[in-house]
Amino acid sequence: MKKDLICVKDFSCGEIEELFKLTDRLKKEKSKFNKRLYGKTLALVFQKPSNRTRVSFEVGMFELGGYSVYLGPGEINLGVRESIEDVSKTLSRYVDGIVLRTYEHKNIVRMAKSADISVINGLSDLLHPCQALADVYTVREKLRKLKGVTLCYVGDGNNVCNSLLFACAICGLNINVASPRGYAPNRQVFQESLVIASRNKARINLFNNPEDAARGADVLYTDVWASMGQEKEAALRRKIFRPYQINNGLLKLANKKALVMHCLPAHRGDEITDEVMDSKNSVIFDQAENRMHVQKAILIRLLGAKK
Ligand code: CP
Ligand code: NVA
Repeated sequence: MKKDLICVKDFSCGEIEELFKLTDRLKKEKSKFNKRLYGKTLALVFQKPSNRTRVSFEVGMFELGGYSVYLGPGEINLGVRESIEDVSKTLSRYVDGIVLRTYEHKNIVRMAKSADISVINGLSDLLHPCQALADVYTVREKLRKLKGVTLCYVGDGNNVCNSLLFACAICGLNINVASPRGYAPNRQVFQESLVIASRNKARINLFNNPEDAARGADVLYTDVWASMGQEKEAALRRKIFRPYQINNGLLKLANKKALVMHCLPAHRGDEITDEVMDSKNSVIFDQAENRMHVQKAILIRLLGAKK
């Protein structure tokens, strides 16, 4: 049966650990895998811009011996030129997997339901699971552990924050989220994550005050204040989120060797200062690199089943 990656919850803790072990091997023994997805094909259906997600999937597919086709907003015109279901049924006849980057999360659910092939969420307004998996892998790589680590997310309770809640809860990391009133993470995601976290003896705490959230944290994480699709709100959000900047003052409150993370793209001077982004604590570009390694493991897991 085909397997999709719509949400981090599609993988158990054990399956994520398997993905991470495969990622370790993909990093160390890259050439051994250069035919692993020979003859396999991937369509990237993107309704929003992308640097990391597009390039890491396309190059990752190439490095595994497969092939990818990029379909930007102008080509497929999802739901306008033809329905999501007709697109997904057609692509199911041509390729082995689809990465969809879209606005409404339900578009991904509809595509996965109607496709005979694996569908991967390449970001929706609600979730960004590939990002969160690569982020937790980066923490594991840098700190050599996950259980008991405290990640502090400062800023908008957006798609990245929602997926981090799931990823931390499943993998046993504690997570503190500091966001302004009205910008907390999705309520249902938060409730579900709480249940998963308590099963895994991990803690989730919501704060309004970034200082309280950052104190003693092992990881400081942020994302843009206005996500793709929220451009019109950018000026208002810049005012509201000003106290939620990751700067040297906030970094001083975290553990001395705290990792600084950002999913990118970053708006330097807004959610993060140049100083912090370029500091020795920053692992931001290793984190970006790991998108590709972790996604190669995901592609092998979803597309690579020996028939
Ligand atoms: N972090 C991330 O998904 O980057 P892109 O939007 O450039 O793909
Ligand atoms: N929250 C951001 C993440 C970009 C990778 C957005 O949705 O635009």
